[in-house]
Amino acid sequence: MNKPAGMPAPLIRLADYQPPAWSVSDVDLEFDLAIERSEVRARLVLQAGPDPQAPLRFNGEGLELLEILLDGEPLPAGRYRHEHELLTIEGVRHGQVLETRVALAPAANTALEGLYLSGRRETGFLLTQCEAEGFRHITFFPDRPDVQARYTVTLRADRERFPVLLAGGNPAGHGELENGRHWARFVDPYPRPSYLFALVAGRLERISQDYRTADGRDVALHIWAEADVIDRCDYAMDALVRSMRWDEQVYGRNYDLDVFHVVATHDFNMGAMENKGLNIFNAKYLLADPDSSTDEEYLHVEAVVAHEYFHNWSGNRVTCRDWFQLSLKEGFTVFRDQSFSADMNSASLKRIQDVSTLRRAQFSEDAGPLSHPVRPAQYREINNFYTATVYEKGAELVRMLAGRVGPQAFRQGTDLYFERNDGRAATIEDFVGALGEASGIDLSPYLAWYGQAGTPRLQARGNYDPANGRYVLELAQSTAPTPDQPHKKALPIPVRLSLFNADGQAQRLRLADSEQDLGTETVLELTDQRQRFEFTGLSQPPIPSLLRGFSAPVVLDADYAPDQLAILLRHDPDGFNRWEAGQQLALMAYDRLYRGEDASAALQAWTEALADLFAQPDLDPGLLAELLSPPSETELAERQVDIDPEHIHHLRHQLNDAIAARIGLPPLLARYQALAAASTSALDASSQLRRRLKQVLLGLLSRLDAKVAIPLAQAQYATAPAMTDRLAALTVLLNTGAAEAGPALADYRRRYADNALAMDKWFAVQARVPGAAALARIEALAADPAFSLKNPNRVMSLLGIFARANASGFHRADGKGYAFVSHQLQVLDALNPQVAARLATALNGWRRLESGRREAAHAMLRELAARPQLSRNLAEIVNRILE
Ligand code: ARG
Ligand code: ZN
Repeated sequence: MNKPAGMPAPLIRLADYQPPAWSVSDVDLEFDLAIERSEVRARLVLQAGPDPQAPLRFNGEGLELLEILLDGEPLPAGRYRHEHELLTIEGVRHGQVLETRVALAPAANTALEGLYLSGRRETGFLLTQCEAEGFRHITFFPDRPDVQARYTVTLRADRERFPVLLAGGNPAGHGELENGRHWARFVDPYPRPSYLFALVAGRLERISQDYRTADGRDVALHIWAEADVIDRCDYAMDALVRSMRWDEQVYGRNYDLDVFHVVATHDFNMGAMENKGLNIFNAKYLLADPDSSTDEEYLHVEAVVAHEYFHNWSGNRVTCRDWFQLSLKEGFTVFRDQSFSADMNSASLKRIQDVSTLRRAQFSEDAGPLSHPVRPAQYREINNFYTATVYEKGAELVRMLAGRVGPQAFRQGTDLYFERNDGRAATIEDFVGALGEASGIDLSPYLAWYGQAGTPRLQARGNYDPANGRYVLELAQSTAPTPDQPHKKALPIPVRLSLFNADGQAQRLRLADSEQDLGTETVLELTDQRQRFEFTGLSQPPIPSLLRGFSAPVVLDADYAPDQLAILLRHDPDGFNRWEAGQQLALMAYDRLYRGEDASAALQAWTEALADLFAQPDLDPGLLAELLSPPSETELAERQVDIDPEHIHHLRHQLNDAIAARIGLPPLLARYQALAAASTSALDASSQLRRRLKQVLLGLLSRLDAKVAIPLAQAQYATAPAMTDRLAALTVLLNTGAAEAGPALADYRRRYADNALAMDKWFAVQARVPGAAALARIEALAADPAFSLKNPNRVMSLLGIFARANASGFHRADGKGYAFVSHQLQVLDALNPQVAARLATALNGWRRLESGRREAAHAMLRELAARPQLSRNLAEIVNRILE
C-alpha cells in the first residue's frame, strides 16, 4: 500500500478504459484459515481478451507467493514475474488453468481491507472486505469489476476456534477433517465481480427467519453477530424482510439465492457491504435496541439494511463496468433506499433530512478542492471516491430522471435496465438509455450532470403586471469553475413550482402561449442558461414556491421579501417547501447578521410564523422539530469567504435565541413538560417524532434560560427510558457547561463500558461540544484507554466529529486544532489509510477560512504532504486539497 517517497500513485483515467487483456471465467478458491497465517489456493480458468498474444497481468498486493502452476505444471521462475504489485506471465492460452497458493497474515492487517481479524486474537473472527480493490490482497486476480466469474469457495479451519464458516453463494456441502478441523463449500451460480467476494469464519451466533419470495423461492435469512450482541439484531431482521417485500412490490425484484446472510462486525471501514449472499455490516448500522440506540440510529439501520439488500439487483446482478461508474450502483441504490424509508416513515421528513445531509456533506464537498463529478474523470485511489457526490448527488440525479419520465415509465425503464444488463458490467449510459427508451424521452442532456462538478446556482426573478394579470418568471443558471473544469455548461434543471396568493392559496397555472390548465403545480425545465416563463390569468401578484420537494440539486437564489417567505412557511402544503421557506428566512436573517446589518425584518417574519405554527396543536411534531432548527453551521459557512467558524457558531446561536425568545419560556416549557410526562421507549413513528421535538425544545430552553433547562436535562437523563432521551439530555448538560454534566458522563460510562456502540456516542457527544475548550477535552479523550486508532468507529466518533462537526472547536485561531489532527493523521495513516484519508477531507474548505486560520491550515497541509511515508489514500487527498 505504501508508496516510496516522491513517487505519486499513477492517475487512472476514464478516457483510457480498455477491456481486460485476460479475464477469468471460473474461480475455485480453497482457504486454510487461521488468525496469524492463512493460506489461499486459487484455480482460475483463463479467458483471452481481444489480443490473445497479450501478456497476462494480474493484481496482487501483500501476497506471499508459495506456489504457481499452469495447467497443473509448476511454472519455472523465468516464466513469470511478481513485482510492483503485479503478476505477469507471457504466453498463456485461452482455457488454461492458472493455479496459485499464497499466504496471508490476517491479524496483522490493520487496514481492514482483504482478509482481516475483527476483535481480539483470542476471541475475534475472520472476515473480508473487497470493494473496491481488496480481492487483490487475497489472491492474484484481474481485480476489476468487468471481470465476472463463477465462484466455488471451500473453507477449512479448526472447528473449535472457527465453528461458523460462511462464504457467498449457496451452501454446497460441509464435513469433518482430521485434527479437529472442518470444511464448508459454497457455490455462487451467478457470475460476479471479485469485489463481491466475501467469507466469514469464527464464533458467531445467529437469528434466522424463513422467507418466501413473490416468485416462490424459499430463502433462509440469517443474521450473525457475536454472542454479546446477538439479541440486538431483531430490528435489522424486521427491516430486511420489509426491504425484500418492498423491492418485489416497487421494482419487481426478487431475491435469487437459497440463503441470505448478514454479519455484524465492530471493525469496518465503511457502513456496510453488499457481498453476494453475505452482506457484512458495520455493527453501527445493524445492531439496535432502545437502551443503546437512538431513534436516528434505528432509521439508519433500516436504511442501510435496505441499501445493501437492494444492491443485490442494483450492483450485483447488474454491476459497474469500471469504478468511474460507481454512482451507477451507489446513486441508484441510495435513491432506492431513500424511497423505501420515505414509504416506511414520513415522506416529507425524509426529504427534509436527505436534503439537509446533501447540503451539509455534498454541497460543501463540491465547493472546495475535492469537488468532482458524480462520474469522476480520474482518480489515484478509488477508495477516496466513495463520497457524498457519488452517493448523495448521484441519488439526486436518479430522482431528477425519475421525476422527468414519471413513475410508470420509470418502472418500465428500470425493468428494461435490469433485464438488458443482467449479468453484465454496465455504464451510466446504459441506465439513462434504458429510462429514455422506456419513456420515449431524450434524456441525453441529463448525462451532462454526471460529468460536471460543482453545484449550479439557480437565479429566479419574478415580475407581475397587474394591468394584464401576467407573471413573468425569469430563470437563469450558473456554475462556478471547479479544479478541472474552468467552463461550465448549462444543465437541464427541472423546477417544480406552484404560485400562491397572499392568502396562501395555490393558484391555477396557465402558461402564456398555451390554453392548457396545468392545475396548481407544474414542472418547468430550464435547459438554457437563461429562460423566461410567462403565466397568465393571475389576479394578484403571486408568491412562487420553487423547486418543490427539492426538484434539482441546486442552490436557489430568489428575490423573496421576508413576508412572502412567511406566507409559504405558514401555508405551503408541501412539507418540504414549507420547511425550505423557513430555512430561506433564517438564511436571510443570517446574511444580514453576518454583515452587521439590521436583520429584524427577516427575523420577525420567520419567528412570528414559527411561533404561530408552534401554537397549532395539530402540526406534525416531527415537522415542527425541523421547522424549529436553523441551517447547520456548515451550511451557513458555505455562504461566506474568509470564514471565522467561531463567529458563525455564535450567529447560529442568535438564530436559535430569536426563535426561543419569540415563542417564550412558558409555552416552550409547557410543551416540553407535556412531552416529557408522556415519554416512553416506544419505537412507533409518532413516539419517535415527539421525542425529536422534545429534544429540540430542551435545546431552545437551554438557550433561553440555562437555570431552567439544566434541572430538566438532569431529570431527563436520570429517568430516560431509552437512549434517545438519555443522549439528548447529556448533550444539553454538556453544551450548557453545567457542572451536572460530569456525573452524568461518569454514570453513562459505567453503564455502557462494555457496549462499544454506546461508548462511541460517549466519545462523540463530548467531541461535539463547541468552543475554545474543545481541544483540551479531545486531547484528554484521545489518551483515554478506551480510545483506539485501530477501530474506525472510535476514530470517527472522536476525531471525525471533532474535525468535521465541531468547526468552532477544530478551526482554532491559533492553529492548534490542525497540529493535533495532523499528528493523529500520521499515526492513523500507518494503520488504516482509508480512514486517515476520510478524516483528512475535513480540511477541504481551508482556502475559504479567514487569513490566520488559512495560513495555519495551509502550513499543516504542506508539512503533511512533504512526509515521505504517506499512503496513496492520504497523499491523494492532501495533494488535491493543496492544488
Ligand atoms: N458498496 C458499499 C456500500 O454499499 C460501500 C463499500 C465501500 N468500501 C470501500 N472500502 N470503499 O455503500
Ligand atoms: Zn452502496
